[in-house]
Amino acid sequence: MVEQTFIMIKPDGVQRGLIAEIISRFEKKGFTLRAMRLMTVDKSFAETHYQDLSSKPFFAGLVSYIMSGPVVAMVWEGKNVIATGRLLIGATNPAQSAPGTIRGDLAIDIGRNVIHGSDSAESAKAEINLWFPEGDKMSDSMRDVRSIPYIA
Ligand code: CMP
Repeated sequence: MVEQTFIMIKPDGVQRGLIAEIISRFEKKGFTLRAMRLMTVDKSFAETHYQDLSSKPFFAGLVSYIMSGPVVAMVWEGKNVIATGRLLIGATNPAQSAPGTIRGDLAIDIGRNVIHGSDSAESAKAEINLWFPEGDKMSDSMRDVRSIPYIA
């Protein structure tokens, strides 16, 4: 099923110069970039994005981390992109992320794990609406590429 997911390159990924590397992995896999914005979020925005984790002991640190510098917010589209995007990203804790995944290749610490990806269709919808409230104006410029026939 063609669907959309929300992907964010976190402040450590931006600071370490990993934007192109991460985008390249999603592009090479065959997914389509539909929206992208470099932005810095404030405390209330970060708390809203991570509201499901508000009871966790690491919540305050996580919010500070996400606020600590610019992030790259993106919407990626494609067949099963929510689950397959999470496979490309790798396990949350980079100590357990398989080599070949983004976190497995590029990160060491769970508190500095370079990228976020929506974990379900519900969170993808909520996160896309939060980060891209203008959603219906997202770029349509790559429709031609996606119209190349393929066997489903
Ligand atoms: P992310 O995929 O953005 O989803 C929730 C985030 O919480 C996760 O990546 C990590 O950045 C962070 N996180 C999850 N577990 C821990 C933990 N035990 N300690 C610190 N940060 C964590």
